[in-house]
Amino acid sequence: MQRLYGLYLKNMKIEYKKNLLSIAPYIPGKPIKEVEKEYGIKNVVKLASNENSLGTSPKALEALQGSVNFLNRYPGHSALVEKLAQKYKVLPQNIVLGNGSDEILKMFAEVLLSEKDKAIMSEHCFGIYDIVVKSAGAASIFVPFNNFRIDLDAIKKNITSATKIIFLTNPNNPTGAIIEDKEFENFIKDIPQNILVIIDEAYIEFVRDKKNIIDSLNYIKKGYFVAVTRTFSKAYGLAGLRIGYSVMQKELASLLNRIRLPFNVNSLGEAAASAALDDKIFLNKSVLSVHNEIDFISAKLDEMKIEYLPTNANFLFINIKKNADKVFKEMLKLGVIVRSMKSYGYPEAIRVTIGMREENLKFLEAIEKVE
Ligand SMILES: Cc1ncc(COP(=O)(O)O)c(C=O)c1O
Repeated sequence: MQRLYGLYLKNMKIEYKKNLLSIAPYIPGKPIKEVEKEYGIKNVVKLASNENSLGTSPKALEALQGSVNFLNRYPGHSALVEKLAQKYKVLPQNIVLGNGSDEILKMFAEVLLSEKDKAIMSEHCFGIYDIVVKSAGAASIFVPFNNFRIDLDAIKKNITSATKIIFLTNPNNPTGAIIEDKEFENFIKDIPQNILVIIDEAYIEFVRDKKNIIDSLNYIKKGYFVAVTRTFSKAYGLAGLRIGYSVMQKELASLLNRIRLPFNVNSLGEAAASAALDDKIFLNKSVLSVHNEIDFISAKLDEMKIEYLPTNANFLFINIKKNADKVFKEMLKLGVIVRSMKSYGYPEAIRVTIGMREENLKFLEAIEKVE
C-alpha cells in the first residue's frame, strides 16, 4: 500500500499558485502536552501565544453549557453582531465576525488584493499578514521599525500605485508599543482613499496608555477607509473557540460577506463571546492581573539587568542578547514555553506572555538559568 502511495505521488503533478512556496508556514506556540511528552517533565507553563492565563470568563462557560443543547442547528450570528454594534455605536452592517481575527485579515486580502498589488507592513510584525497577502497572490512590502516602533513616515514613503492595504498593529506584537492618535491623525490624512488601513487591535484591552492610543473607531465613523480587527482570544480568554470581529465601512463589509463562508463562526464561539462581552468583572480581573504582573516581572528583570521594552500588551519583549532559538530550547527543558523572536527578525530576543504569579516565577527562575 505504501509503495503504491509513493508511486502515485511520484507521478502526480500538483499545479498550485505561483508564489505559494514563498509563504513560510505559521509556526504556532508549542502546546504544553507536547513539551511534557518530549522532555518527560510535568507542570510545564505556556507563555508563548499571548493567551489569557487567568482562564475563561465564568459567564462564557455558563453560556456554553446552555448552547450544547443546540449543536444540531447551524449557528446564527446576529445576536453577537447586534451586541457589538451597540457597544461601538455603529450599525450591524459595519461588523464582520471571523473564525478568529486571523480569518478576517485573510478576507481583507482576498477581497482587495490581486496579483501585482502590494500590502505594506512592518519588518517585525505578526506573521499572518504576509501569509494572507501572499495567499491572495500579491506581495508584501516590509518597512523597518524606528526604535522598536512602527514607523508611519517610512510606511508613507513606501506607498505606490500598487499599494492596496497597510497593516498596522496597535499595540504592536511583538514589542508592545502603541501608535498614538496624533501620529495616526497626521498619517491618515495623506493616505490615498483607495488604500485600506487595517488597525489590528488584538491586544487593545490591555493598553495602559489609553489617553494617547488611536481612537480607531472615530476614523471609521469619519469615513476614512480604515478597518479595526479585534479578538476574543486574548483578554476574553476564548482563544480555543476561534472568534474575532472587525468594524469597517459597511460597503467593505458587504464585500467581505460575499466571500465569507456562511457559518464561519460556530455557535459555541458565538454564545461564549456574547456572554464574555457582558462579563466586565472577568475582563477587569484579567487586565488588572496582567498590569500587576508586568510590574512584578519588570522589577525582577531590572534586578537581573535583563533588557526589555515597556509594554501596552499582555507580553514582554526581552532583549536577551543570546541566541534566542537556543534560549527557547533551554527554557523548554526547564518547563517554560516562550517564543523565540527569530521569526520576527530578532534572533537575540524572546517574547514572553504575562502569566499568573506562579507561572511568572517559573519563567524568572528559568531565564536566570539559561546560558
Ligand atoms: C497581532 C495579532 N493579531 C491577530 C492575532 C490573531 O488572533 P485570533 O486568535 O483572533 O485569530 C494575534 C494572535 O496572536 C496577534 O498577535
